[in-house]
Amino acid sequence: METLHIRRGLVSDAPALTAFATRTFAEAFGADNRPEDLQAHLASSYNVPRQTMELTDPNIATLLALQAETLLAYAQVRCQNPPPCVTQARPIELHRFYVDHRVHGQGVAQRLMAAVHEAARAFNGQHLWLSVWERNPRGIAFYRKEGFVDAGRKDFYVGPDRQSDRVMVAAVRQINTDTTQPVHQ
Ligand SMILES: CC(C)(COP(=O)(O)OP(=O)(O)OC[C@H]1O[C@@H](n2cnc3c(N)ncnc32)[C@H](O)[C@@H]1OP(=O)(O)O)[C@@H](O)C(=O)NCCC(=O)NCCS
Repeated sequence: METLHIRRGLVSDAPALTAFATRTFAEAFGADNRPEDLQAHLASSYNVPRQTMELTDPNIATLLALQAETLLAYAQVRCQNPPPCVTQARPIELHRFYVDHRVHGQGVAQRLMAAVHEAARAFNGQHLWLSVWERNPRGIAFYRKEGFVDAGRKDFYVGPDRQSDRVMVAAVRQINTDTTQPVHQ
C-alpha cells in the first residue's frame, strides 16, 4: 500500500470530513436502520458546522488517515465522562473510528489505532473506552484484536431508535522507553 499519512484534522478539512463521515456511517449501518432514522442521525451528527466545532474543540482530537490526498479513515478521541460501567483510571473516549470499506483488512485500522493511543496519551489518559453497536461483529472483532475487553452496555440513538451498544475498554499503550533491551547487531 502507498504511504499512509496520519495527521490531526484542520478546520479546512471540515467539508471533506463531513462527506466521508456521512458516507462511512451510511455504508456501515444503512442496511440495518430505518432510512428516516439514518437520515435524522446523519443530519444531526455530520454537517460542516458540527465538524468545524469538533475540529476546533481542544477536548477532541480528530485524526485523519490519508493516502496522497485521499481520506481513507478517521478517528475521534475525546475527553468525555464515561458511563458508570467504566471504572478504570483516567478514561478517554474513542468516539469515532471509521475506515473506508475499500481498505478494510489492509492494516489501515491498526495504524490509525496506534495514533489513537498517542492522542489519548497526549490527553493524559490511562484507558480508552468506546461503545460499539452489539450488531457490529466486525467492529467488535477488531476492537478485541486491539485488546479491548467488555465493560458493560450503554444506549445509543440513531434518530429516535434506541439501540444497545457494548462498552469496551483497553489500557492506553505506553511508549516503549525501555533502553535495557539488547541492541541487535
Ligand atoms: C471496524 C473497522 C474499523 C475495522 O477495520 P478493519 O480493517 O475492517 O479490521 P480488520 O480486518 O483488521 O479486523 C476485523 C476482523 O473482524 C473479522 N470479521 C469480519 N466480519 C466479521 C463478522 N461478521 N463476525 C465476526 N468477525 C468478523 C475479520 O475477519 C477480522 O478479523 P481477522 O483479522 O482475525 O480475520 C472497519 O471494519 C470499519 O471502519 N467498519 C465500519 C465502521 C465501524 O464499524 N466502525 C466502528 C464503529 S464503533
